Amino acid sequence: MHSYWNNRFSNGMVWGEKPSCTVNMAKEVFLNNQAKTILVPGAGYGRNTKVLSPTFEVDAIEISKNAIAIALEEDKLTKFTEGSIFDMPFSNKKYDGIYCYNLLQLFRLKERRLLIGKCIDQLTENGILFFTCFSNEDKSFGDGLEVEKNTFEYKPGKVAHFFSEEDLIHHFDTTEILETGSIDETLDYLDNTVRTYKLRYIICKKRLCI
Ligand SMILES: C[S@@+](CC[C@H](N)C(=O)[O-])C[C@H]1O[C@@H](n2cnc3c(N)ncnc32)[C@H](O)[C@@H]1O
Repeated sequence: MHSYWNNRFSNGMVWGEKPSCTVNMAKEVFLNNQAKTILVPGAGYGRNTKVLSPTFEVDAIEISKNAIAIALEEDKLTKFTEGSIFDMPFSNKKYDGIYCYNLLQLFRLKERRLLIGKCIDQLTENGILFFTCFSNEDKSFGDGLEVEKNTFEYKPGKVAHFFSEEDLIHHFDTTEILETGSIDETLDYLDNTVRTYKLRYIICKKRLCI
């Protein structure tokens, strides 16, 4: 997995410089919740963190050294840490918000649960999670061998999970769900191809322990 992602970024900004429209949505939600500190797991080369870092104190975790090398030029305000999200936490710091773009779908159920649990553990009281992921309405749904329900091995060793709304809510059932929705996201690839993805997002709040 590590070498796959490192190679993926060896030619530069795979999905161009343009941030996802969801990062502006997340910024609004974080501002409305008086957030100051934000964590971005699987941050890639910083195309989304650069929208957040002029306003918030942003820490990012990324497994690819090549992606971080680009990110350090692209976004000089975010603090990037090279490492796996499964080794989180990297410090005792707690975050008012976590923005996680299209990372969750890369894993099987056990690891998806682990990622969400690790993110919840790093939130402050009332902290907000903003996650995006593949929708089961995307045209790639069903490509490859189904290795778990709605999870397909589309290349050897590489899986993608496709979420229905109900499934997404179920993944975050230990939190207070504030909003879910669907968006179309168009990505301009380095090789000049353009592809529109159907994504889902979820916004939720950490449940207070009483
Ligand atoms: C689909 S990409 C999204 C990148 C970024 N969020 C963006 O939109 O530009 C998934 C990202 O997660 C990173 N990644 C994959 N597995 C990881 C892991 N176990 N720990 C940390 N980062 C990981 C990849 O290197 C890649 O940058």
